[in-house]
Amino acid sequence: MKAKSNSNKSKFIPVSIPLVSNEDIRSINKVIRKGWISSDGPEVKIFEKEFSKKINRKHSIAVSNGTAALEIAVKALGIKKNDEVIIPNFTIVSNALAVIKQNAKPVLVDCDLETWNMNLDEIEKKINKKTKAIMVTHIYSFSNDMDKIIKICKKYKIFLIEDAAEVLGLKYKNKMCGSFGDISTFSFYANKQVTCGEGGMISTNNRQLYEKCKSLRNLCFGKIQRFNHDDIGWNYRMTNIQAALGINQLKRLDKIVKKKIYIGNYYYNKLSKNKNIYMTPPKLSYSKNIYWVVGILIKNKKILASKIIKNLNKYGIGARPFFWPMHEQNIFKKLKIFSKKSYPNSSYLGKYGFYIPSYLKLDNSKMNYIISIINKLI
Ligand SMILES: Cc1ncc(COP(=O)(O)O)c(C=O)c1O
Repeated sequence: MKAKSNSNKSKFIPVSIPLVSNEDIRSINKVIRKGWISSDGPEVKIFEKEFSKKINRKHSIAVSNGTAALEIAVKALGIKKNDEVIIPNFTIVSNALAVIKQNAKPVLVDCDLETWNMNLDEIEKKINKKTKAIMVTHIYSFSNDMDKIIKICKKYKIFLIEDAAEVLGLKYKNKMCGSFGDISTFSFYANKQVTCGEGGMISTNNRQLYEKCKSLRNLCFGKIQRFNHDDIGWNYRMTNIQAALGINQLKRLDKIVKKKIYIGNYYYNKLSKNKNIYMTPPKLSYSKNIYWVVGILIKNKKILASKIIKNLNKYGIGARPFFWPMHEQNIFKKLKIFSKKSYPNSSYLGKYGFYIPSYLKLDNSKMNYIISIINKLI
């Protein structure tokens, strides 16, 4: 993931290269020179404020990564043993882990084949007295249909946790994704629209949840007697150095999203003509596609994604497999976390989906090359 070494070293086209500008580097140097290197620095608060403004929320809490953000979110909502949380099956493991780590039970919902998001028609069938929350994740590119999900949450009086790690800058009907959940979470890993190297954010409009998340992020130090702790917390703090980078990157969010859309649409216009592949289209009625990653799904189970990825690598093109579904994870099988039920769409995506280079400096000539090789292989 090193931007510089990559451009100098070889012609291999990686899936992702973080874009760190000279101005980003200047702002990092500035805080280091001032000695503001831990989490206790002004930039963290500035980043939280700017972030809240960007997504139109009252409060944001910067944390060490998106996985930590989810863990804090689940605990802050009081979810515990014997509780159930509905999560997508086709997603990052962090969603399931956050629930499991509070000794609660993740309940899986298969994805739909058009958007790759959770199939909303399946949710209500999974709700029972133990259900405390729906954790909805915007997968790869499209927003979930939030009106439908919010309606279900209201009907059953359950919480909404919105994982917007992959979609900073995406809107659902003119409102920012990540502004819908009782608690919403984000990631600033190196392949995200905005990166801090590592990092995450939690956002909420609820003052009490805000205070709870802030405390959980910082070991739940005692309010009256500092070293007499109030609860089981974590050190999930973000450093001021990360925040300095985040502030600067956030200023460019609109530009970044525009470029991502350009790249996604460029690939879509040329590759969707290939009858053997499916790509998510540029828009739905309620959401644009911001193509955080450009995913390719092989139709008709013609050839496994793992084979195509190997062959693309031989041509000097990086590619990554899609998420592996939760019910097929080795560790969860060993722990018997999920029943043996089948989730055909998630299984299909796990085996036949992969994504291709879409970093911000990717140019048309490289995309044309990638397109020509994909058309040759599939
Ligand atoms: C949907 C989703 N949620 C959470 C995470 C976890 O974020 P992090 O890698 O910052 O822990 C990711 C990571 O890519 C993700 O894609």
